[in-house]
Amino acid sequence: MAAAALLLLLLLLLPPLAALLRRGAGRWGALHLLHPQGALHLSRLARRRGPLLRMRLGGRDVLVLSSAGIIREALVRHCGDWLGRPPSYLGSLVSHGGQDLALGGPCPGWRQQRGAARGALARAGTQLGPLLWLQGQELCEELRSHGGAPLDPFEVFTFHTCSTIARLLFGDLVPPPGELRAFSCCLGELLQVWGRSTVRALDLLPPLRALPNPGLRELLRLVQHRDAFVEAQIRRHQECPSPPSDTVLGALLGRDPRVQGAPLSPLRLHMALVDLFIGGTETTAAALGWAVAFLLHRPELQARLRAELRGLQGPPGPGDTGRLPLLQATVSETLRLRPPAPLGLPHCALRHTSLGGLPIVAGTILVPNLLAAQQDPVIWQQPEAFLPERFLSPGAPWRSLLPFGCGARSCPGEALARAELFVFLGLILREFRLEPGPEGLPGLGVSPGTVLRCPPFRLRMVPCQPPGSP
Ligand code: HEM
Repeated sequence: MAAAALLLLLLLLLPPLAALLRRGAGRWGALHLLHPQGALHLSRLARRRGPLLRMRLGGRDVLVLSSAGIIREALVRHCGDWLGRPPSYLGSLVSHGGQDLALGGPCPGWRQQRGAARGALARAGTQLGPLLWLQGQELCEELRSHGGAPLDPFEVFTFHTCSTIARLLFGDLVPPPGELRAFSCCLGELLQVWGRSTVRALDLLPPLRALPNPGLRELLRLVQHRDAFVEAQIRRHQECPSPPSDTVLGALLGRDPRVQGAPLSPLRLHMALVDLFIGGTETTAAALGWAVAFLLHRPELQARLRAELRGLQGPPGPGDTGRLPLLQATVSETLRLRPPAPLGLPHCALRHTSLGGLPIVAGTILVPNLLAAQQDPVIWQQPEAFLPERFLSPGAPWRSLLPFGCGARSCPGEALARAELFVFLGLILREFRLEPGPEGLPGLGVSPGTVLRCPPFRLRMVPCQPPGSP
């Protein structure tokens, strides 16, 4: 009864709270971060108040950084000071008490886990070409099966980015497609539920944890599905009399002497696989979705990309970036204008430090606003326009492009994600002309969510070259 009354009170309080968040009322400090359009909202604030915003959140200092210069100063020049992640109630629940790579702090177990995951991904990167062609062909086959009828590409992209990670991790011992498809949907839902403000509020307002929270229940159900899937794959690999060699899982189990740090403890191994799936599925699919949406708005750019691809003998591979500069620039411009992780991941100061000449106390939380930094008018001309051509000119500000973060905790999947986007987009453009669906051109506005996704849209993929032709 008391819980029901409290829940009612909370429901009554939520609308005024949301209104305060919209106005960005200073008294509520960093509750801005709960705003459904957090990154965009913080970008507007930064335009008014400068690239270093200071706030209070749950009794702690929070810094939101909105220029590449200041983000680099913190995460590259003072990288040792900012290696930590802020402790989080939800983070701990979904990571078996902080045993994972993305949310864990720097302890010996975490260093070993990060070193082994980086090493295993780097090893896998040397044989990425054939894997991406195979996956890209399957992606095009699925797109072709729609016969030019309107389709929402996001679910297809998510399945194939998830399947790429599965192939890298497990080699030929990949789970059946139906199981993998259900798992990729589970990952999407998990991020979506985690992003809900009623769930995020549990991190900021501990008294809410005593109340029933349907979102939290849903989150824990999805975590259970996630864990059962990953556990089943590890078991399948361990029980196989001759498991495939050269897989990321094999390397993390200590079967590749060139990968340092392995073997990992069972829990660290489990969470490393979870992080590679979560880190590499929705983010890459979202970027592919944005690239397609932007190209629908620029048919003449599509035609130039197709002409560039025709000049290549055979399908594009990860090593063709120099021969396909416009395709490479299109991938970079998509990641600049719509970074899939617009607020990166929060960092935490392990000791007293300084930033922009200001003293910073240990425990301060740092949020890099990558969306704002990559649209900084001081660095980028026409910052809000989609202009891949900007990356073709000699003085392009590459150092200010930070979609994967920077420094000692930058994304370990950067090379894989870039290669995947380059090959998949190249294969799609080579085979199909992208045309708007019956609803017209997609919106390009920023929508809420942990991962920055394009608002849902449908398009027609009209075959313009027979599949598999050189
Ligand atoms: C377009 C695709 C991707 C984008 C935009 C992206 C972006 C990011 C960003 C901004 C961070 C936070 C960096 C920081 O803490 O400062 C991150 C961390 C991470 N990413 Fe990615 N990522 C992508 C793809 C991938 C892929 C393919 C994988 C793995 C297969 C991956 C695995 C991870 C992991 C494990 C972390 C946590 C690293 C740590 O905490 O030390 N990501 N990513």
